[in-house]
Amino acid sequence: MMHPNAVMLVLLGKLVLPFVSAQNEPKINASDQVILSADSSSKPVILQCNLTTAHTPHEESFWMKNGQEIPNTRTDHRLTIYRITKPRADDSGEYMCVYTFSMAPNANATIEVKAKPDIIGHKRSENKNEGEDAMMYCKSVGYPHPTWTWRKVDGTSYTDIDNSTGRFFITSRDNYTELNIINLDLKTDPGVYQCNASNVIGNTAETTILRVRSNLAPLWPFLGVLAEILILVVIIVVYEKRKKPDDFIDGKQIQQTTTRTKTFARGIQNKQFTQTRWLNCVFWTT
Ligand SMILES: *[C@@H]1O[C@H](CO)[C@@H](O)[C@H](O)[C@H]1NC(C)=O
Ligand SMILES: *[C@@H]1O[C@H](CO)[C@@H](O)[C@H](O)[C@H]1NC(C)=O
Ligand SMILES: *[C@@H]1O[C@H](CO)[C@@H](O)[C@H](O)[C@H]1NC(C)=O
Ligand SMILES: *[C@@H]1O[C@H](CO)[C@@H](O)[C@H](O)[C@H]1NC(C)=O
Ligand SMILES: *[C@@H]1O[C@H](CO)[C@@H](O)[C@H](O)[C@H]1NC(C)=O
Ligand SMILES: *[C@@H]1O[C@H](CO)[C@@H](O)[C@H](O)[C@H]1NC(C)=O
Repeated sequence: MMHPNAVMLVLLGKLVLPFVSAQNEPKINASDQVILSADSSSKPVILQCNLTTAHTPHEESFWMKNGQEIPNTRTDHRLTIYRITKPRADDSGEYMCVYTFSMAPNANATIEVKAKPDIIGHKRSENKNEGEDAMMYCKSVGYPHPTWTWRKVDGTSYTDIDNSTGRFFITSRDNYTELNIINLDLKTDPGVYQCNASNVIGNTAETTILRVRSNLAPLWPFLGVLAEILILVVIIVVYEKRKKPDDFIDGKQIQQTTTRTKTFARGIQNKQFTQTRWLNCVFWTT
């Protein structure tokens, strides 16, 4: 049988041990989350971590942004500071200070820096032929990653991209969204499309103009030239037909001046006639 004091000791040990080890767990006092707003963009942002409790002395600490170590932030002090001198939406993200120990796992604390999304890339316009496919995209910075939506803008009213035709495909991941329209329709598809990025801090949108050309459109310049040639030919033919009686007189005159031979054989006369016709044509154009 155990001594009551021993039972007490065991109980005490069971109660105290986790408490002691919890006490020895590293504790980091980290600064609060930061929200970057348009007007605060000029003020530097200071992120701070202080290792207030540790089981063993730490080796060093460093900073990470979105899971990547930020270079040149390693230090052996308990207090570590990361300064964002000119904060922009691009600087928002998940920051983490990490303390390393020789005999124990790393300890870390996360500080979120949030900002309204900013669309940093999109197409201003997309020009395609009917039946072809169109691709529009938007790229953003700003943490948390936005929720993306696409709309078609008709004057002042919006229509969310409705897929009743089965031709619209939206693919979005984190800071990127893509709208694909297949088999473009000349009547319904042209217009202004808008991507909208929205997170807890705010939202922003950009537009792309989609132009759809008729399949005949590339033919228009060619048809134009063809029409011009046709009209010219018609004018020449009509002119020639109407000028025929005069031609004969003019032709005779030129014939007289240009013909040196005294032979009036029918074949040669014909030949000369065509020559004068050609000359008349040259006179008319000059
Ligand atoms: C953490 O640090 C802030 C100042 O940076 C201080 O006001 C606060 O009392 C500290 N908290 C703890 C638990 O040490
Ligand atoms: C950091 O933590 C230590 C230990 O708790 C404390 O003495 C010191 O004042 C803290 N420094 C800051 C800047 O909070
Ligand atoms: C941060 O700490 C958690 C446990 O608190 C750990 O699972 C994670 O791997 C640590 N991350 C880094 C980057 O050290
Ligand atoms: C549109 O419909 C097609 C076919 O029904 C589907 O595969 C596609 O994922 C839809 N796109 C969107 C954005 O809903
Ligand atoms: C977008 O996010 C991915 C991962 O989520 C990242 O690798 C990439 O650098 C980001 N791009 C921009 C422009 O922020
Ligand atoms: C973007 O979407 C959000 C959420 O759906 C909405 O509140 C906001 O008005 C939209 N912004 C624009 C410019 O359309």
